[in-house]
Amino acid sequence: MTAWMMNLVFALFAVLAFTGLFFFVVTRGALVLRGLSPGAPSEKSHVYPIYSNMRLIKLVDFQPIISAILLFQYHHLVSKIVSELEQLDLRSRKVLITSCAFGNVIPRVVKAAVESGAERVLIADIIHNELVHAKSKLGAYAGRVEYIEDNATSMKQAEGGVAANVMFFLLHELPHDLKGQALNEAGRMLAPGGKLFLAEFHRPQLWVLRALSWTYFKVFEPLGLALWDTHDPLNYLESTGGWTCERTTYFFGNFQIITATKQ
Ligand SMILES: C[S@@+](CC[C@H](N)C(=O)[O-])C[C@H]1O[C@@H](n2cnc3c(N)ncnc32)[C@H](O)[C@@H]1O
Repeated sequence: MTAWMMNLVFALFAVLAFTGLFFFVVTRGALVLRGLSPGAPSEKSHVYPIYSNMRLIKLVDFQPIISAILLFQYHHLVSKIVSELEQLDLRSRKVLITSCAFGNVIPRVVKAAVESGAERVLIADIIHNELVHAKSKLGAYAGRVEYIEDNATSMKQAEGGVAANVMFFLLHELPHDLKGQALNEAGRMLAPGGKLFLAEFHRPQLWVLRALSWTYFKVFEPLGLALWDTHDPLNYLESTGGWTCERTTYFFGNFQIITATKQ
Protein backbone atom coordinates (compact mmCIF):
# COMPACT_ATOMS: atom_id res chain seq x y z
CA MET A 1 0.00 0.00 0.00
CA THR A 2 1.38 3.40 -0.94
CA ALA A 3 1.88 6.10 1.66
CA TRP A 4 -1.03 8.24 0.42
CA MET A 5 -3.39 5.27 0.54
CA MET A 6 -2.35 4.54 4.10
CA ASN A 7 -2.94 8.18 4.98
CA LEU A 8 -6.36 8.02 3.36
CA VAL A 9 -7.32 4.88 5.30
CA PHE A 10 -6.05 6.47 8.50
CA ALA A 11 -7.96 9.71 7.81
CA LEU A 12 -11.18 7.77 7.10
CA PHE A 13 -10.77 5.76 10.27
CA ALA A 14 -10.10 8.95 12.27
CA VAL A 15 -13.24 10.65 10.85
CA LEU A 16 -15.40 7.60 11.63
CA ALA A 17 -13.97 7.26 15.13
CA PHE A 18 -14.45 10.96 15.84
CA THR A 19 -18.04 10.89 14.51
CA GLY A 20 -18.86 7.82 16.64
CA LEU A 21 -17.34 9.42 19.73
CA PHE A 22 -19.17 12.69 19.12
CA PHE A 23 -22.54 10.94 18.81
CA PHE A 24 -21.84 8.80 21.86
CA VAL A 25 -21.01 11.88 23.95
CA VAL A 26 -24.13 13.81 22.89
CA THR A 27 -26.48 10.84 23.27
CA ARG A 28 -25.93 7.86 25.55
CA GLY A 29 -22.77 9.17 27.21
CA ALA A 30 -24.62 12.27 28.39
CA LEU A 31 -27.48 10.14 29.77
CA VAL A 32 -25.05 7.92 31.67
CA LEU A 33 -23.47 11.02 33.25
CA ARG A 34 -26.92 12.46 33.99
CA GLY A 35 -27.86 9.22 35.73
CA LEU A 36 -24.80 9.50 37.98
CA SER A 37 -25.45 13.08 39.02
CA PRO A 38 -27.51 13.83 42.15
CA GLY A 39 -31.13 14.88 41.93
CA ALA A 40 -34.34 13.17 40.98
CA PRO A 41 -34.89 12.32 37.31
CA SER A 42 -37.38 14.51 35.47
CA GLU A 43 -39.77 13.74 32.61
CA LYS A 44 -37.03 14.99 30.26
CA SER A 45 -34.19 12.90 31.70
CA HIS A 46 -34.22 10.45 28.78
CA VAL A 47 -33.84 13.22 26.15
CA TYR A 48 -30.38 13.50 24.62
CA PRO A 49 -28.58 16.87 24.63
CA ILE A 50 -28.55 16.58 20.86
CA TYR A 51 -32.29 17.43 21.04
CA SER A 52 -32.19 20.08 23.72
CA ASN A 53 -29.12 22.20 23.07
CA MET A 54 -29.82 24.60 20.20
CA ARG A 55 -26.21 24.64 18.99
CA LEU A 56 -26.16 20.83 18.80
CA ILE A 57 -29.56 20.73 17.12
CA LYS A 58 -28.34 23.13 14.41
CA LEU A 59 -25.01 21.34 14.03
CA VAL A 60 -26.51 17.89 13.51
CA ASP A 61 -29.68 18.66 11.58
CA PHE A 62 -28.14 18.33 8.15
CA GLN A 63 -30.07 16.15 5.70
CA PRO A 64 -27.15 13.99 4.44
CA ILE A 65 -26.12 13.16 8.04
CA ILE A 66 -29.68 12.31 9.02
CA SER A 67 -30.19 10.19 5.92
CA ALA A 68 -26.92 8.36 6.57
CA ILE A 69 -27.94 7.58 10.19
CA LEU A 70 -31.03 5.84 8.78
CA LEU A 71 -28.90 4.01 6.19
CA PHE A 72 -30.28 6.19 3.39
CA GLN A 73 -33.81 4.90 3.97
CA TYR A 74 -35.03 8.21 5.44
CA HIS A 75 -36.54 9.38 2.16
CA HIS A 76 -38.47 6.11 1.64
CA LEU A 77 -39.82 6.12 5.19
CA VAL A 78 -41.00 9.73 4.98
CA SER A 79 -42.45 9.15 1.49
CA LYS A 80 -44.55 6.25 2.76
CA ILE A 81 -46.12 8.43 5.46
CA VAL A 82 -46.58 11.34 3.07
CA SER A 83 -48.25 9.20 0.41
CA GLU A 84 -50.69 7.79 2.98
CA LEU A 85 -51.50 11.29 4.26
CA GLU A 86 -52.11 12.42 0.69
CA GLN A 87 -54.79 9.76 0.33
CA LEU A 88 -56.76 10.95 3.34
CA ASP A 89 -59.55 13.48 3.30
CA LEU A 90 -58.39 15.80 6.05
CA ARG A 91 -60.73 18.70 5.34
CA SER A 92 -61.53 20.53 8.59
CA ARG A 93 -59.51 17.97 10.52
CA LYS A 94 -56.38 18.23 12.66
CA VAL A 95 -53.13 16.34 12.21
CA LEU A 96 -50.69 15.81 15.04
CA ILE A 97 -46.94 15.25 14.84
CA THR A 98 -45.89 13.68 18.13
CA SER A 99 -42.31 14.81 18.67
CA CYS A 100 -40.01 16.63 16.30
CA ALA A 101 -37.38 14.91 14.20
CA PHE A 102 -34.41 16.03 12.18
CA GLY A 103 -34.33 16.34 8.40
CA ASN A 104 -37.27 17.23 6.19
CA VAL A 105 -39.87 14.93 7.70
CA ILE A 106 -41.75 17.75 9.43
CA PRO A 107 -41.99 20.07 6.38
CA ARG A 108 -43.00 17.13 4.17
CA VAL A 109 -45.65 15.88 6.59
CA VAL A 110 -47.05 19.39 7.15
CA LYS A 111 -47.19 20.02 3.39
CA ALA A 112 -49.00 16.71 2.77
CA ALA A 113 -51.45 17.34 5.60
CA VAL A 114 -52.26 20.87 4.46
CA GLU A 115 -52.64 19.77 0.83
CA SER A 116 -55.07 17.06 1.98
CA GLY A 117 -57.14 19.78 3.58
CA ALA A 118 -56.05 19.72 7.23
CA GLU A 119 -57.15 22.92 8.92
CA ARG A 120 -54.38 22.70 11.48
CA VAL A 121 -51.22 20.72 12.16
CA LEU A 122 -50.18 20.40 15.79
CA ILE A 123 -46.54 19.71 16.53
CA ALA A 124 -45.86 18.49 20.06
CA ASP A 125 -42.49 18.05 21.71
CA ILE A 126 -41.25 17.92 25.27
CA ILE A 127 -38.33 20.24 24.41
CA HIS A 128 -38.98 23.91 23.65
CA ASN A 129 -35.85 24.30 21.48
CA GLU A 130 -37.01 21.50 19.19
CA LEU A 131 -40.26 23.37 18.57
CA VAL A 132 -38.38 26.60 17.86
CA HIS A 133 -36.16 24.72 15.42
CA ALA A 134 -39.14 23.03 13.72
CA LYS A 135 -40.81 26.42 13.35
CA SER A 136 -37.76 27.73 11.50
CA LYS A 137 -38.45 25.13 8.77
CA LEU A 138 -42.14 25.93 8.38
CA GLY A 139 -42.33 29.60 7.42
CA ALA A 140 -44.65 28.81 4.48
CA TYR A 141 -47.24 27.25 6.80
CA ALA A 142 -47.09 29.83 9.60
CA GLY A 143 -50.87 30.21 10.00
CA ARG A 144 -51.65 26.50 9.90
CA VAL A 145 -49.25 25.09 12.48
CA GLU A 146 -49.51 25.10 16.27
CA TYR A 147 -46.48 24.32 18.45
CA ILE A 148 -47.21 22.56 21.70
CA GLU A 149 -44.75 21.84 24.49
CA ASP A 150 -46.04 18.55 25.84
CA ASN A 151 -45.09 15.05 26.88
CA ALA A 152 -46.04 12.29 24.44
CA THR A 153 -46.72 9.94 27.33
CA SER A 154 -49.30 12.19 29.03
CA MET A 155 -50.58 14.71 26.50
CA LYS A 156 -52.86 17.62 27.33
CA GLN A 157 -54.74 17.23 24.04
CA ALA A 158 -58.41 16.29 24.13
CA GLU A 159 -59.60 12.78 23.38
CA GLY A 160 -60.43 11.95 19.76
CA GLY A 161 -59.40 15.35 18.40
CA VAL A 162 -57.02 14.42 15.57
CA ALA A 163 -57.46 12.54 12.30
CA ALA A 164 -53.85 11.43 12.00
CA ASN A 165 -50.84 11.24 14.26
CA VAL A 166 -47.26 10.88 13.05
CA MET A 167 -44.66 9.47 15.45
CA PHE A 168 -41.26 9.38 13.78
CA PHE A 169 -38.56 7.41 15.64
CA LEU A 170 -39.67 8.42 19.12
CA LEU A 171 -40.44 5.04 20.73
CA HIS A 172 -36.91 3.64 20.60
CA GLU A 173 -35.69 6.56 22.73
CA LEU A 174 -38.32 6.18 25.46
CA PRO A 175 -37.79 4.08 28.59
CA HIS A 176 -39.66 0.79 28.20
CA ASP A 177 -42.50 1.62 30.59
CA LEU A 178 -43.19 4.81 28.61
CA LYS A 179 -43.32 3.15 25.17
CA GLY A 180 -46.77 1.68 25.81
CA GLN A 181 -47.95 4.91 27.44
CA ALA A 182 -46.99 6.92 24.34
CA LEU A 183 -48.92 4.47 22.17
CA ASN A 184 -51.93 4.65 24.49
CA GLU A 185 -51.86 8.44 24.29
CA ALA A 186 -51.55 8.32 20.51
CA GLY A 187 -54.70 6.18 20.43
CA ARG A 188 -56.59 8.34 22.91
CA MET A 189 -56.11 11.51 20.84
CA LEU A 190 -57.16 9.90 17.53
CA ALA A 191 -60.74 10.14 16.34
CA PRO A 192 -62.39 6.81 15.37
CA GLY A 193 -61.05 5.84 11.94
CA GLY A 194 -57.99 8.00 12.56
CA LYS A 195 -54.54 6.82 11.58
CA LEU A 196 -51.35 6.50 13.55
CA PHE A 197 -48.19 6.47 11.40
CA LEU A 198 -45.30 5.04 13.30
CA ALA A 199 -41.75 4.98 11.89
CA GLU A 200 -39.27 2.88 13.85
CA PHE A 201 -36.42 0.41 13.86
CA HIS A 202 -37.26 -3.26 13.34
CA ARG A 203 -35.40 -6.56 13.74
CA PRO A 204 -33.42 -7.09 10.51
CA GLN A 205 -33.79 -10.35 8.61
CA LEU A 206 -30.12 -10.63 7.55
CA TRP A 207 -27.91 -11.87 10.38
CA VAL A 208 -25.03 -9.55 9.38
CA LEU A 209 -27.27 -6.53 9.56
CA ARG A 210 -28.79 -7.86 12.78
CA ALA A 211 -25.34 -8.16 14.35
CA LEU A 212 -24.35 -4.64 13.25
CA SER A 213 -27.66 -3.20 14.33
CA TRP A 214 -27.49 -5.00 17.70
CA THR A 215 -24.01 -3.51 18.28
CA TYR A 216 -25.29 -0.04 17.36
CA PHE A 217 -28.14 -0.29 19.85
CA LYS A 218 -25.98 -1.72 22.63
CA VAL A 219 -23.50 1.16 22.27
CA PHE A 220 -25.70 4.13 21.40
CA GLU A 221 -29.38 3.43 22.04
CA PRO A 222 -29.96 0.47 24.39
CA LEU A 223 -33.64 1.38 24.79
CA GLY A 224 -34.25 0.60 21.12
CA LEU A 225 -33.48 -3.13 21.10
CA ALA A 226 -36.72 -4.05 22.87
CA LEU A 227 -38.66 -2.95 19.77
CA TRP A 228 -37.37 -6.14 18.14
CA ASP A 229 -39.29 -8.41 20.49
CA THR A 230 -40.58 -7.59 23.99
CA HIS A 231 -41.81 -4.09 23.02
CA ASP A 232 -42.77 -4.63 19.39
CA PRO A 233 -45.19 -1.71 18.81
CA LEU A 234 -47.43 -3.67 16.45
CA ASN A 235 -47.81 -6.50 18.95
CA TYR A 236 -48.53 -3.95 21.65
CA LEU A 237 -51.22 -2.15 19.64
CA GLU A 238 -52.87 -5.43 18.66
CA SER A 239 -52.79 -6.66 22.25
CA THR A 240 -54.61 -3.54 23.45
CA GLY A 241 -57.38 -4.08 20.87
CA GLY A 242 -59.24 -1.50 18.83
CA TRP A 243 -56.65 -1.19 16.07
CA THR A 244 -56.19 -2.52 12.54
CA CYS A 245 -52.47 -2.53 11.84
CA GLU A 246 -50.29 -2.89 8.77
CA ARG A 247 -46.52 -3.12 8.86
CA THR A 248 -44.17 -2.33 5.96
CA THR A 249 -40.48 -3.04 6.46
CA TYR A 250 -37.51 -1.47 4.70
CA PHE A 251 -33.87 -2.33 4.07
CA PHE A 252 -33.88 -6.06 4.89
CA GLY A 253 -36.31 -5.45 7.71
CA ASN A 254 -34.14 -2.90 9.53
CA PHE A 255 -36.87 -0.22 9.58
CA GLN A 256 -40.64 -0.26 9.70
CA ILE A 257 -43.64 1.90 9.13
CA ILE A 258 -46.73 0.81 11.01
CA THR A 259 -50.01 2.26 9.85
CA ALA A 260 -52.52 1.68 12.63
CA THR A 261 -56.14 2.59 12.09
CA LYS A 262 -58.25 3.20 15.16
CA GLN A 263 -61.47 1.22 14.91
C1 LIG B 1 -38.45 11.74 17.52
S1 LIG B 1 -37.08 11.49 18.46
C2 LIG B 1 -35.76 11.09 17.36
C3 LIG B 1 -35.92 11.28 15.94
C4 LIG B 1 -34.80 10.81 15.06
N1 LIG B 1 -33.65 10.33 15.77
C5 LIG B 1 -34.48 11.93 14.13
O1 LIG B 1 -34.22 13.05 14.56
O2 LIG B 1 -34.58 11.72 12.95
C6 LIG B 1 -36.48 12.98 19.05
C7 LIG B 1 -37.50 13.96 19.51
O3 LIG B 1 -38.37 13.40 20.47
C8 LIG B 1 -38.58 14.35 21.50
N2 LIG B 1 -39.05 13.66 22.68
C9 LIG B 1 -38.39 12.75 23.45
N3 LIG B 1 -39.18 12.32 24.44
C10 LIG B 1 -40.39 12.93 24.30
C11 LIG B 1 -41.59 12.88 25.01
N4 LIG B 1 -41.77 12.11 26.09
N5 LIG B 1 -42.61 13.65 24.57
C12 LIG B 1 -42.49 14.45 23.50
N6 LIG B 1 -41.36 14.54 22.79
C13 LIG B 1 -40.31 13.79 23.17
C14 LIG B 1 -37.21 15.00 21.65
O4 LIG B 1 -37.30 16.24 22.30
C15 LIG B 1 -36.81 15.13 20.19
O5 LIG B 1 -37.30 16.30 19.62
